Amino acid sequence: MIKKYKLIGPITQLISMASLPIKGALKDEELMIIKDAGILIENDRIYAIDKFSELKNKAESIGAEIIELHAQHICVPGFIDAHTHICFSGSRANDYAMRNAGKTYLEIAQSGGGIWDTVTQTRKAEQKELTYGVIKRANLLLKAGITTIEVKSGYGLSVAEELKMLRAIKDADNSTEADLVTTCLAGHMLPKDFDGDHKTYLESISNSLFPILKEEKLTNRIDAFIEKSAFLPSDIYPYFKKAKALGFDITVHADQFSTGGSEVAVKIGAISADHLEASTEDEIEMLANSNVISVALPGASIGLGCNFTPARKILDAGGALAIASDWNPGSAPMGDLLMQACILGTFEKLSNAEVLAGITYRAALALNLKDRGRLISGMLADFNLFQTDHFNEVFYNQGKLTPSQVWKKGELIHQQ
Ligand code: NIG
Ligand code: FE
Repeated sequence: MIKKYKLIGPITQLISMASLPIKGALKDEELMIIKDAGILIENDRIYAIDKFSELKNKAESIGAEIIELHAQHICVPGFIDAHTHICFSGSRANDYAMRNAGKTYLEIAQSGGGIWDTVTQTRKAEQKELTYGVIKRANLLLKAGITTIEVKSGYGLSVAEELKMLRAIKDADNSTEADLVTTCLAGHMLPKDFDGDHKTYLESISNSLFPILKEEKLTNRIDAFIEKSAFLPSDIYPYFKKAKALGFDITVHADQFSTGGSEVAVKIGAISADHLEASTEDEIEMLANSNVISVALPGASIGLGCNFTPARKILDAGGALAIASDWNPGSAPMGDLLMQACILGTFEKLSNAEVLAGITYRAALALNLKDRGRLISGMLADFNLFQTDHFNEVFYNQGKLTPSQVWKKGELIHQQ
């Protein structure tokens, strides 16, 4: 393969996130800022990061294309949204209106809303339509600098319908420049039309669906919603154990309204526990003493009008905190990761370093990805340039300052 080199710069401030810890609180002073920096790219990877003037000689000697920036820019790693449900059909605007008008969860479900409404709409859609929807939403995220996006199934809830969703996501992955990481969320709720109890449903999914997921390489991640309205820990343990034995990574919708899920995540050795709005000191401590990444989903708190994940406490206890959008048609319809991460920062008193870590290298770890999230030699050349003179501006503008250039795998894929 012919090697293709590019040098981009000079960049007023480059925040590489190199050598920052996986766990615990971060101060802005810990960010290593390279001033007047350059990024030298070899094909889809970062070859070197250094002062632009230093790299220029090297670039010229290897015949690199030199892309000079003529305005002030700051550079950060490509953002990673580690938790979304962007494969769906239909709208739940009616749920939103009812909820804000004071109707309860039960009243909304009884009037035909809730997760089951989206299941019904998604089942009616053709695989191709779902693919288009995922591409459309992924490309919106990409323009906002999100270069890696996790996408869950979970609105199919039968072997055939879950396969339709996962195949749709796989097809979408081939048609967008963003990397999509697929997760099977067949354990989202007990489908209303299933003839049997929770245990029987999960057994049938693990026996019939798991082998196909492997065979078709549709996903290596299994998720479940642990909550009284969905699945209890006792239902989920055998399901997750089977998944683990087959080599799947585990991720959990945990402690959203009541506790129990994060304990399962820790005991089973999940990669991440997501939501955690209801986590108490005990759960926070347990998570901090484990290798499970805690994922805050401020978009769900904003969508539902409830409290945020105790992000400050998680970090102060020594936990690893990622931040994701949870973009879905029900609880989190906004789908704006940067805005939500900034808002979580203001309410939870997070440093800009903690917010940035939560949507870059800590988010990569929530997806068990080791090749992205930091701008260091050998990692994927996924990065964002914002036209401003200081990185603080990105957070201060609370999502309203969007990247002027998005680079994915060494290619400029969006510019404004
Ligand atoms: O992550 N908590 C469960 N699942 C989704 C909501 C899905 C929906 O309401 O459609 C969530 O918030
Ligand atoms: Fe979710």
